[in-house]
Amino acid sequence: MRYLTPARQTRPTGDVIFTLNAEATRRKNAGESVVNATIGALLNDDGTLAVLPTAAQAIKDVKATEWATYAPIPGSPEFLQAAIADVFAGHPRFKACATAVATPGGTGALRHALMNYLEPKQKLLTTSFYWGPYQTLCDEHERDIDTFRMFAADGTLDVAALDAKLGEHLASQGRALIFLNDPCHNPTGYSMTQAEWRGVVQTLVKHAKTAPVTLLVDMAYFLYGRAADPRAFVSELEPLLGNVGLLFAWSASKSFTHYGLRVGALIACEPDEKERAVTAAALAYACRGTWSNCVRGGMSAIGKLLSDAALVKACDAERETLKARLTARVQKFNELAKPKGLRYPRYEGGFFVTVFTDDWKERGQRMAEQGVFVVPQPGALRVALCSVAEADIPRLVTALSA
Ligand SMILES: Cc1ncc(COP(=O)(O)O)c(C=O)c1O
Repeated sequence: MRYLTPARQTRPTGDVIFTLNAEATRRKNAGESVVNATIGALLNDDGTLAVLPTAAQAIKDVKATEWATYAPIPGSPEFLQAAIADVFAGHPRFKACATAVATPGGTGALRHALMNYLEPKQKLLTTSFYWGPYQTLCDEHERDIDTFRMFAADGTLDVAALDAKLGEHLASQGRALIFLNDPCHNPTGYSMTQAEWRGVVQTLVKHAKTAPVTLLVDMAYFLYGRAADPRAFVSELEPLLGNVGLLFAWSASKSFTHYGLRVGALIACEPDEKERAVTAAALAYACRGTWSNCVRGGMSAIGKLLSDAALVKACDAERETLKARLTARVQKFNELAKPKGLRYPRYEGGFFVTVFTDDWKERGQRMAEQGVFVVPQPGALRVALCSVAEADIPRLVTALSA
């Protein structure tokens, strides 16, 4: 007897990335020389997980009762205020109209956005290259996914494609929700310029005159971009305030190298006080109806790391060291990959890059046979430089271009 409902009986087993990683790890443990560019976590050159020592210590310092006690349903207020202050440092207009709830990582924030800003069966709109779990989240929550062509012929963000698709969404479903993952887009590595943000904002404002449009900025990697000020893009979003629904999926996973702590937040900007209260109620209700409340100890540690000046300074310095290591890998990759003619988007920093290739399936398989693991996806191979030692990059590039 099958007890699962019909729709749940055909769920795929195993995640592609985790399966490839398991295979790479198995062969490495058996003594083979392996380059594993599948893992979406920042590793040291010796293959161990890079962890900010100050963050690890702050977590150890959280008292047992703080771990054991339930947190408030929307999240601990100190943590939420600290997350809002983190995103909007230097942008008081946003800070003044923000409300937030705690979520288990950025993933939980994406979930709440899908459930509160789309009706069942309506479509999310995102870039044609996107983080695979966007699809999983949509499937699980009975929403659909649709994409616009990410890159124009000149390699920049295809704002015209967004414009066209957004028009279609509003015509067919009367509302739209857009996920943009920036900077350091997963999987392409692309970071939008201020001018590209401006183009996106103009398009959204234009369409929002006819129906509700909501933008969610998935900022999972925002502290790993190359911009001197990681919050500079926020000023480009000002015209959205009061015109377009504006959400931010904030995550401690990468910023504080504690992926398993599951600390995140969904931040919503709503200048109208009454609407803000309605939004806060809806999001808190969604928390109660899914995970009830998040990990109090995790929020406590991250809240402190965000607000204690000495801890902020220490984490910033430690993160800079990790970023420098990542940047060295990115530079090495660019230096070797360009002369080989590999095709990939402008790549200046971040965990991943995507190499475009028509024979992605065969090429990925061939590379795995040679002990070089990347993640094949339609038309491309995702390369997680975050997990590859600088010394292995020549072998990686040779395998990619063979
Ligand atoms: C694009 C993107 N968004 C969101 C997340 C969410 O991560 P977490 O739920 O660990 O915060 C990830 C994690 O890999 C990601 O790559």
